[in-house]
Amino acid sequence: MSAVEGAVDPVTLDIDRIRSDFPVLRREVNGRPLVYLDSAASAQKPQAVIDAELGCYSRYYANVHRGVHTLSQEATTAFEGARDQAKAFLNAHSEREVVFVRGVTEAINLVAHSFVAPRLDPGDEILITHMEHHSNIVPWQLVCERTGAVLRVAPITDQGDVDLDAYRALIGPRTRFVSIVHVSNALGTVNPVEEMVAAARAAGVPVLLDGAQAAPHMAVDVRALDVDFYAFSGHKAYGPTGIGVLYGRYNHLAQMIPYQGGGDMIRRVSFEGTDYADPPARFEAGTPNIAGAIGLGAALEYIDAVGREAIAAREEALVARAAEAVAGVDGVRLIGEPQRRAGAVSFLMDDAHPNDVAMMLDEQGIAIRAGHHCAQPLMERFGVPATARASFGIYNTEAEIEALVTGLEKIRRLFA
Ligand code: ALA
Repeated sequence: MSAVEGAVDPVTLDIDRIRSDFPVLRREVNGRPLVYLDSAASAQKPQAVIDAELGCYSRYYANVHRGVHTLSQEATTAFEGARDQAKAFLNAHSEREVVFVRGVTEAINLVAHSFVAPRLDPGDEILITHMEHHSNIVPWQLVCERTGAVLRVAPITDQGDVDLDAYRALIGPRTRFVSIVHVSNALGTVNPVEEMVAAARAAGVPVLLDGAQAAPHMAVDVRALDVDFYAFSGHKAYGPTGIGVLYGRYNHLAQMIPYQGGGDMIRRVSFEGTDYADPPARFEAGTPNIAGAIGLGAALEYIDAVGREAIAAREEALVARAAEAVAGVDGVRLIGEPQRRAGAVSFLMDDAHPNDVAMMLDEQGIAIRAGHHCAQPLMERFGVPATARASFGIYNTEAEIEALVTGLEKIRRLFA
């Protein structure tokens, strides 16, 4: 029985049943059962998501918002149903605040170009932190180059936490926007976003949270957070690739001029000029990722059926255990020991390059990521070019942590 169909005990998740919902977890890699510890890069998909996409393509696929025929209406209903699902998932006020995008990268670029850039004068400031993913750095650099604005960076501690005093001190009279990561993809740090958002909003500065690594692992309530924009990607939340969500306060979205034009985002077009459609359609030019959105709706339904509080509690304990176990391997040191951690553990092994560690673990069926994790300034902060990173999801087990530790010990013996 699928975890979605049956009641799941909110305290002790039935991990065997959850695992049975993910077909790929039945396969072997290099003659060993797959141990998938790379969900921060992209999470595996439950059968419910695979079935939702397959169902769309095999039963009712057609373009959305454009047809009077039955298939188009059914596809539109399912597509807009996914938007309702995303609205509920984030506790937004209205589905009109949910813009479908390709992922967090596109969401941040949209906000940067359509909301922030028009408000900037030379010398104005945008504030981020030192632990941002490139997708929350480069769009702001592009906007700064165009406008003469300046990028400010809140420092982090040696443990990998934001220096909150320094962050607060950087919010000044020229700060026009704050864009910060909710959970660090490279360190696993869970930022104190309630305090960080409150500090910005107290100064009248709008805030975006990059929730790529948070939304799959914990409950997110945009109203309780009082945030202006929140973005997450489908593929890290057990959904399809190429689909994600930007939440924006409706009054912000309604003021924004789109940065992409095309079909389905207009009210009326003539050669003299164009009236844009209301949000969110205004920001969804062209045929959207229809089956992807429907698959994302199924993924969010799946997460909700398992229970986000239960997922958060289970995963936080699992990741804490993983951090302790990995740090206990001779010659291994953690990069980042934040006060609160979700999703990921980064580490280095003496004398072994992270790529070699990842390749040798793969020989044992264990998938981790090695590299700079699209966070080169963060790597520089720790004085390393790369780390090895094990990241966790709803389906990971204590036994897999043991397998990782055994694998690392084996590599250590070879290198020592
Ligand atoms: N941002 C993704 C990661 O952290 C790709 O691996």
